Amino acid sequence: MRIPFVAGNWKMNASVKETEALIHKLIPLVKDAGKVDIAVCPPFLYVNQALALTKNTHIRVGAQNCWFESSGAFTGEVSPEMVKDAGCTYVIIGHSERRHILGETDEIINKKIRKALAAGLVPIFCIGELLDEREQGKTEQVIERQVTRGLEGLAEADMSHLVIAYEPVWAIGTGRNATPEQAQAVHRYIREWLKNRFGSAVSDAVRIQYGGSVKPDNAKGLLTQTDIDGALVGGASLNADHFAAIVKAAVS
Ligand code: PGA
Repeated sequence: MRIPFVAGNWKMNASVKETEALIHKLIPLVKDAGKVDIAVCPPFLYVNQALALTKNTHIRVGAQNCWFESSGAFTGEVSPEMVKDAGCTYVIIGHSERRHILGETDEIINKKIRKALAAGLVPIFCIGELLDEREQGKTEQVIERQVTRGLEGLAEADMSHLVIAYEPVWAIGTGRNATPEQAQAVHRYIREWLKNRFGSAVSDAVRIQYGGSVKPDNAKGLLTQTDIDGALVGGASLNADHFAAIVKAAVS
């Protein structure tokens, strides 16, 4: 049994005031949500505040990115060790906005994943195809490339500390989400790939979140699919009521 996992990716949104208001509102809403892992991923500057506000709750905190070196002359970057030291549990790696706006390659993402695992973080490894790749029938090919390169060099044991998020790029922030059947088909494909690469135990245990315009009104249809184990939520995670409704949809 995979415990569902719902994470909120705040992206480049929030302020001290908003972080406080959002988390204060969220805590009682998800307090009795049941068997579900919950995380919020604010911008780095608000991570400490989010950690303090969620202390003694079952909401965990993640970062949205990290670099792949421990320390040194990397102006503007934050190392996995620092993310861990601050108190984060998770780190999002390879988000499509970082791939497509900031030019992150599969190789960079692989280095980040390895380093994050070594630092004791749980990477939320994002993959997903562009619209034209889907339209050209290349979805599986793209996913295969991303998982093969992104997870290169990882051992079976590493996989119990990693979450995959399938986020079709055409569905992110567009309001155009994949149908539950479209999402399930890719999740199934990923699970089959995991089985071939790491074996059944890993394939059965790894959680695969869906992301891309997940909202309270479409969450249930997506989250009740066999191979969908939760959601990585962008826009809707900035509204405590909406995020809590998605958390609840993941449990039931
Ligand atoms: P969205 O973002 O829910 O706003 O589409 C999801 C994500 O990018 O993680």
